Amino acid sequence: MLKMLFLFLCLALLCCSSIQAENHVDNERSFAIDYENNQFLLDGRPFRYVSGSFHYFRTPHQYWRDRLRKIRAAGLNAVSTYVEWSLHQPEPNKWVWDGDADLVKFIKLAQEEDLLVLLRPGPYICAERDFGGFPYWLLSRVPDIKLRTSDTRYLKYAEDYLNQVLTRVKPLLRGNGGPIIMVQVENEYGSFKACDKKYMNKLRDIIKGHVGSDAVLYTTDGSSRQALRCGSVPGAYATIDFGTSGNVTYNFKLMRESEPKGPLVNSEFYPGWLAHWEEPFPRVNSYNVTKKLDEMLSVGASVNFYMFYGGTNFAFTAGANIFDNYIPDLTSYDYDAPLTEAGDPTPKYFDIRKTVSKYLPLPNVPTPNVSVKGDYGTVPMTAVLRLFDPEARHLFGSKTVHSTKPLTFEALNLPHWLVLYTADLPVGESSRDDSTLHATPKDRALVYFDDNLSGVLSRTHNVRSVQLKTPGARSLKLLVENQGRVNFGNVDVEDFKGIFNVTLNDFEISPWNATGFKFDTIFESSLDAVEVKRYMEVRTLSSGPQILVGHFNVSGDPRDTYLNTAEWGKGIAFVNGYNVGRYWALMGPQMTLYVPAPYLKEGLNKLVMVELEYVPENREINFQIAPVLDRLRKPKLAA
Ligand SMILES: *[C@@H]1O[C@H](CO)[C@@H](O)[C@H](O)[C@H]1NC(C)=O
Ligand SMILES: *[C@@H]1O[C@H](CO)[C@@H](O)[C@H](O)[C@H]1NC(C)=O
Ligand SMILES: *[C@@H]1O[C@H](CO)[C@@H](O)[C@H](O)[C@H]1NC(C)=O
Ligand SMILES: *[C@@H]1O[C@H](CO)[C@@H](O)[C@H](O)[C@H]1NC(C)=O
Ligand SMILES: *[C@@H]1O[C@H](CO)[C@@H](O)[C@H](O)[C@H]1NC(C)=O
Ligand SMILES: *[C@@H]1O[C@H](CO)[C@@H](O)[C@H](O)[C@H]1NC(C)=O
Ligand SMILES: *[C@@H]1O[C@H](CO)[C@@H](O)[C@H](O)[C@H]1NC(C)=O
Repeated sequence: MLKMLFLFLCLALLCCSSIQAENHVDNERSFAIDYENNQFLLDGRPFRYVSGSFHYFRTPHQYWRDRLRKIRAAGLNAVSTYVEWSLHQPEPNKWVWDGDADLVKFIKLAQEEDLLVLLRPGPYICAERDFGGFPYWLLSRVPDIKLRTSDTRYLKYAEDYLNQVLTRVKPLLRGNGGPIIMVQVENEYGSFKACDKKYMNKLRDIIKGHVGSDAVLYTTDGSSRQALRCGSVPGAYATIDFGTSGNVTYNFKLMRESEPKGPLVNSEFYPGWLAHWEEPFPRVNSYNVTKKLDEMLSVGASVNFYMFYGGTNFAFTAGANIFDNYIPDLTSYDYDAPLTEAGDPTPKYFDIRKTVSKYLPLPNVPTPNVSVKGDYGTVPMTAVLRLFDPEARHLFGSKTVHSTKPLTFEALNLPHWLVLYTADLPVGESSRDDSTLHATPKDRALVYFDDNLSGVLSRTHNVRSVQLKTPGARSLKLLVENQGRVNFGNVDVEDFKGIFNVTLNDFEISPWNATGFKFDTIFESSLDAVEVKRYMEVRTLSSGPQILVGHFNVSGDPRDTYLNTAEWGKGIAFVNGYNVGRYWALMGPQMTLYVPAPYLKEGLNKLVMVELEYVPENREINFQIAPVLDRLRKPKLAA
């Protein structure tokens, strides 16, 4: 039996390679829609894709080939990725295309691993990324900008960006011999209120100008007539997206209203789901995934999994959603996908492979194993600085700016995380017994009266006031956290960060000093010289955040590991200068931060934490071999 199977596999392989050889001979590369027969044509032959989403910007480049190979090994024949504008143009005059931003290398690796590519260059991508992939400086440059519309001030920047991307990838389009078969215009634009047809036409023209007929242009939208109407544009093939609870017949009927002929496509089929802080970690059942997949493949559809492999929102790249409330996305983008955050196959992976094998030949690529993780034990941490110490501001704060109203992060040219706002409290008001501070935080503010933590303002929970419990307090500190700019929602699209309308009782507080904390990776080296010479709090940090340093050894080749933050509060962690992202163990559900092996080295490694709220008494933290993503907690601090 086994022997026969082996023979069969060999024959199948022979067939495949002869087709490939033939392709090389005729050298006619193309990708097109055959409307007559409701199918795609790859190099002139009937074709359908089963694709997996994998965003290069959520994984160190050292792992790109590994993940691509695992996607191919599952039987998939294509990979889909967004392109993230903010990664490639972090500042107006700075373009980045190397290292983890080497898009061209990613696409070439996909081709080497025998995968075709579906490219989604935005400019807006949602993707649970900060600001949906927009660079923050759009708001600094043009404060009254109207994003995702035909506002020419926005379009000028968007066109520059698209020209940069598309010029680079042009040689990699199918018609030019490359793997890119599909290029998306905007992203689920039908879910956005503006419904600006002029904008969609303009984007289509820009993209078409580069792509021509060397790949197929497309759009994708959620399953509603309204969404398909506003999201589609003539000249781009209109597709639909839905998950395991979607009705296949109904959804493809809906797609047919936009595209009466041509291949059926689900551009985002969800084998898992996105996750937020303060919510349970969602799981999607494997049986439901394969059942729905089988149903779609049996009617000849092409399908893209969103996500097949999620990865991580390292540093400050996680965004936030507004459904009812503002609610920030987790650092982990595990997504309950077939491949975990660390690229390990799950039972879902093998179930999907089995289903796909009914429709597409499986490649001669061995299926992956779960990788061995590193257990690097307990790391004692030393508190070296308080954030509010003058040395801390000197080492990594921005220049302090004075103003009558508190300036926004964008006005301060600060893309991420923290701004400290200080002011004097109006004396007459603060000596009243019932004095209350009112303010609108974006997104979360720790409130210190006379340098003592007194409460938290929260956008998520709509907490906009804190009572002054010690009458006569003189000074006010507001440490405001940008928890991620909105990536999906029809309100606050232009999501400025900061603190707004601050009053004590009805008295407007003014003037203000503002200091931004950017925490570039380089700040770490300056910490080595800092001498610890003061008492450092443990447990609740009433006198402000702390910066802590620890060291640990790695023997032999480094392995992936997880930093267990469960005993800690809220903050960020750096491993050898790599910002591995936000943690918020007081809240959950994510307790561990994924630390990929390429961030480690043999010998001595350094861990730096910036902890905002809570340090355990023993100041210890540990690395472990398993992730914990689903432990939701009640917060110890309000809101
Ligand atoms: C599977 O899908 C059905 C239908 O959408 C749903 O009712 C059920 O809860 C799902 N099962 C699991 C375990 O998610
Ligand atoms: C799915 O949609 C089709 C077409 O709208 C409908 O006829 C069918 O009853 C639906 N199936 C279920 C299970 O709701
Ligand atoms: C998975 O592990 C098995 C057993 O150790 C090994 O034979 C196989 O080569 C491994 N597969 C891959 C893709 O590394
Ligand atoms: C603001 O900064 C100025 C100059 O650095 C300083 O004199 C003043 O005390 C500061 N005010 C507050 C409230 O921090
Ligand atoms: C700080 O504020 C808390 C209440 O938020 C209060 O219990 C504590 O006594 C205050 N500490 C100081 C030193 O004022
Ligand atoms: C601040 O108050 C003004 C006037 O009431 C209001 O228009 C504005 O929306 C408020 N800003 C925020 C961010 O809530
Ligand atoms: C790391 O290993 C070296 C050599 O064995 C040892 O001297 C050092 O104390 C270790 N450091 C830590 C933090 O474990």
